[in-house]
Amino acid sequence: MNITVIGTGYVGLVAGACLAETGSQVTCADVDAVKIGGLRDNVLPIYEPGLDALVERNQGQGRLTFTTDVGAAVGSAEVVFIAVGTPPDEDGSADLRHVLAVAETIGKHQSRELVVVTKSTVPVGTAAKVHAAVGKFARLPFHVVSNPEFLKEGAAVDDFMKPDRVVLGVETDFARSVMAELYAPFVRTGKPIIFMDVPSAEMTKYAANAMLATRISFMNEIANLCERVGANVDLVRKGIGSDSRIGPSFLFPGPGYGGSCFPKDVQALLRTSEGEGTPMLVLGAVEQANVRQKRLLFEKLQEVLQDRLAGSRVAVWGLAFKAQTDDMRESPALTLIEAILGAGASVVAHDPAAMGEAKRRFGERMSYARTNYEALNGADALVIVTDWNEYRFPDFTRIKRALSRPVLIDGRNLYDPVKMRALGFTYRSIGRGHE
Ligand SMILES: NC(=O)c1ccc[n+]([C@@H]2O[C@H](COP(=O)([O-])OP(=O)(O)OC[C@H]3O[C@@H](n4cnc5c(N)ncnc54)[C@H](O)[C@@H]3O)[C@@H](O)[C@H]2O)c1
Repeated sequence: MNITVIGTGYVGLVAGACLAETGSQVTCADVDAVKIGGLRDNVLPIYEPGLDALVERNQGQGRLTFTTDVGAAVGSAEVVFIAVGTPPDEDGSADLRHVLAVAETIGKHQSRELVVVTKSTVPVGTAAKVHAAVGKFARLPFHVVSNPEFLKEGAAVDDFMKPDRVVLGVETDFARSVMAELYAPFVRTGKPIIFMDVPSAEMTKYAANAMLATRISFMNEIANLCERVGANVDLVRKGIGSDSRIGPSFLFPGPGYGGSCFPKDVQALLRTSEGEGTPMLVLGAVEQANVRQKRLLFEKLQEVLQDRLAGSRVAVWGLAFKAQTDDMRESPALTLIEAILGAGASVVAHDPAAMGEAKRRFGERMSYARTNYEALNGADALVIVTDWNEYRFPDFTRIKRALSRPVLIDGRNLYDPVKMRALGFTYRSIGRGHE
């Protein structure tokens, strides 16, 4: 099958490489010439486990090509995926400018009957707008499909190759059969392709992310209360997660959710619900709880260091919004670092993947360490934001020796509070008490 993917970010690049891996001829198009130039040399703009090998192999074998000529890329395609960004507009609603601009380009350059697939996360009603934008210029039949993407950054290739399910909002039998054929290689283990009407497919993506964000904010609030009442959230989590009605996923408390999806999609759904006169009260609280949670690590640091905070040096381990990615969009580390700098302290940071991104964001406002231990030299406290595997079993003696004060704020509950106390640390974690 001849496929074009427009937008070569986390979603578009992963989708393009994975579709090429199943034998399709894939062209990835993007307006970012630097990104496309790098990709032609197999230099990836993002860190995503397994993606580099996939890009190199499929490009090497001629199934995957990269271009900045979006119009020409549309010309030969049977299926075009729209995977451009949908950033929040000023009021939090999804900004559809890129999606609709691409839809017009598709209409102008279409050269055969075409399936146009919206993979970007877009509010209900967008497919109709895409249809109108393509239709303004199209002279041949086309079919608009809504195909929300559920991949997780950090495991994106695996998620795309072996999805839990594929959701497809279709309006015609033609689109249905093309999409069923295209996705057949990815659901060979029996995972479902769920066909539905287009608005339901668009809504499914927001409902999924809103549900996951709700679980996180809910558990963060339970954790904060656990601390007050002397309960241990790790045990509470196990206690409720083993209930088959609840399940164990997404119950880990932490420093608040970040990334490019949850914050933006929660806001967009809130704006949609308000616009429809059915405001989502639970979801509003989910967002507020998350804003508060992102301040928690700083508040814990402040509580321990008190008036020694100003002028101190704080080591931060982990900058990405979660492990296995270099993505810092809406990361709780951003809130923490700004608060520390604002309090007159300095920051020295380490992250296994996000140092380049951090330097772009903070420049010389903070220092960067080559290793996690190097970050500790001369620091007065350590705060852990991201649960990278390499932070799980550190040499505590070395940490204690390097820090001028044995203060460790653990935003991911990586360590045992009893052991940390025995080692002489002033240790704070989330929802587990500390006295
Ligand atoms: N990142 C995720 O984990 C994830 C998961 C599921 C869904 N989504 C959704 O997928 C969409 C893309 O997200 P992302 O994280 O890949 O975004 P991204 O910002 O990483 O990439 C978007 C790409 O689109 C390109 N682009 C913008 N306008 C363009 C145009 N007119 N023509 C061609 N290219 C253009 C940009 O240059 C950029 O490379 C968003 O709607 C997002 O909500 C993201």
